[in-house]
Amino acid sequence: MAISKYLVVLIVAVVVVIALASLLIYPRLTTPPTKVLKVGTSPDFPPFEFIDEKGNIVGIDIDLIKAIAKRLGYEVEVISIDFEGLIPALLNKQIDIIASGMTITEERAEVVAFTTPYWEADQAILIVMGSGFKPRSLDDLVNKKVGVQSGTTAEQLVHDYITNTGKSIDVRSYSSYVLAVVDLVNGRLDAVIVDSPVAQMFAKEYNVEVSAVIQTGEKYGLAVRKDDVELLNKLNEALEEFLKTDEWIQIIDKYLGG
Ligand code: ARG
Repeated sequence: MAISKYLVVLIVAVVVVIALASLLIYPRLTTPPTKVLKVGTSPDFPPFEFIDEKGNIVGIDIDLIKAIAKRLGYEVEVISIDFEGLIPALLNKQIDIIASGMTITEERAEVVAFTTPYWEADQAILIVMGSGFKPRSLDDLVNKKVGVQSGTTAEQLVHDYITNTGKSIDVRSYSSYVLAVVDLVNGRLDAVIVDSPVAQMFAKEYNVEVSAVIQTGEKYGLAVRKDDVELLNKLNEALEEFLKTDEWIQIIDKYLGG
């Protein structure tokens, strides 16, 4: 009799322990953690990423990453970071993905992994509207004050030109393209070099115009850490699908339409 009494107590104790333990574990099994994808962008690059009248970061890249993330069951948190700081922020895990009109280059592909491309662009020379100065190429910018954004392919293009020709251009690197364009408008720069679609957008919003396009044939990709292979594969799959949808056409129309 005594043994079976202890047995009952033991069984009850075991059942209670299991019940308590499963209470602790159960919520973790049933409620999947909300997966938040931290997206870094430099919002000085309309129509891809810019700050709207309400102070929100919006643009083609933002809608694109939100749509793709949604398909993959992620929520998105957009974080504003100067372009130059995006790759460092990705590597130190402050963000999980870069969506910032970033050109896929060999140099960058050594440190980050790019998705398949989603956009093509060249570089454009922007000048003040109606100014007598009409540069047609980089040669025409020799000894001129030229604004670019730090860490961009435009900055690289001008530096390469200087190295290769031995000529001099007074390159001024800005943390933001908006600040560069403002300085152009104010007469502190002779020209700004920026990606062609962005130059066209600045030309709509500011008293500036495109005086020449330099064919660079750049392709934009989203970037993740190289060891984030699973995320890269999922993004690529969703991106390739998404680029075929009407929703993508609508996003482009929303920001470039008319
Ligand atoms: N496409 C150029 C590059 O990758 C410029 C990108 C600048 N992007 C931005 N959001 N400001 O270097």
